[in-house]
Amino acid sequence: MTDRKKITLPTLFNLVQNGEPITMLTCYDYPTAFFQEQAGIDMILVGDSLGMTMLGYDSTLPVTMDDMIRHSQAVRRGAPTAWLIGDMPYMSFQPSVETAIRNAGRFMAEAECDAIKLEGGAEMADRMAGIVAAGIPSMGHLGLTPQSASALGGFRVQGRGAIQAKKIMDDAKALEEAGAFAILLEMVPDRVCKLITERAENCFIISLGSGPDAHGQLLIYHDMFGLYPKFKPKMAKVYGDAGNVILNGLKQYDKEVREGAFPQPENWFSIKDDEFDELLELLN
Ligand code: KIV
Repeated sequence: MTDRKKITLPTLFNLVQNGEPITMLTCYDYPTAFFQEQAGIDMILVGDSLGMTMLGYDSTLPVTMDDMIRHSQAVRRGAPTAWLIGDMPYMSFQPSVETAIRNAGRFMAEAECDAIKLEGGAEMADRMAGIVAAGIPSMGHLGLTPQSASALGGFRVQGRGAIQAKKIMDDAKALEEAGAFAILLEMVPDRVCKLITERAENCFIISLGSGPDAHGQLLIYHDMFGLYPKFKPKMAKVYGDAGNVILNGLKQYDKEVREGAFPQPENWFSIKDDEFDELLELLN
C-alpha cells in the first residue's frame, strides 16, 4: 500500500486552485484498484460501464445497484485513499428524488464511496440537489451519457451544433447550482469544454474525450490497455496492449499443457519418500 494521505474534496479543490490537473480512471475490481492506488490516481470511478467491460452486456442499462455495490466494495479494498465515486446505474435515480437519495446512500454506507455520479442535465438537477442535501458529494455527467444513448442517437459526439452546445452549457450551470462538486463532460467539443471550464465557479470539470482544457482527465481503464474486445473508441489512448499479452499467455499455456511442457517440478508439490512408503503400506 502507499503512504498517501486520503484524497478529500479539499485536496481536489486545492489541485484545481493550483492549476494542477486531476487524474481519474474507471476501475471495477480489487487488483486494478491496487495498481491505480500505487500509480497515484486521484479519483476512481466505478462506472456502470462495468456492465459492458466486466459483465459482457451490450449496454449499461442492465446494471443493477447490487452489481455496482459489489464492484465498488472491491475497488475500495484495493484503493483505500483514492476519491472513490460510485456511478448511479440506470433507473437508480431517474424515478424520484427519494429513490436517488436512497441509492446514493447505499454507495456511501455499503461501499465506503466518497461520492456518486449521475447522468443528465437540468432535468436531473432536483435529484442532484436532493443527494447533495443528504450530505453526499455528487458529480454530474453531460455530453454523451450512455444511459440515454438511444435518445441521443447512439454513441456520438454531443454539442457540435451551437444550440446543442448552449444546452450543455445551461445543463452544466443547472448542475453546479444544484450543488455538484464536479461535472464530467464526455465527448463534447474541446472549445465547448473550455468555455464550461472557464465558467465553472463552485465545481470542477473533468474531460473524457473533450479536450485538454478541463480541470482533469478521465479514461476508461479497459480502453487504455486493449481489454475491451468489442470496440476501441477513437478518443482512447492505448498505454499498453495487455489484451494481447494475456491472449498470448493463454495460448502458450494451452499449447504447453497439450505438449506436456507444463507443469514442471517447480509447479507442483511433493511428499517425502518415507511418508509415501507409509502411505502405500496403509493402502495394502
Ligand atoms: O460508466 C462509466 O464508466 C462512465 C464513463 C463513460 C464516464 O460513466
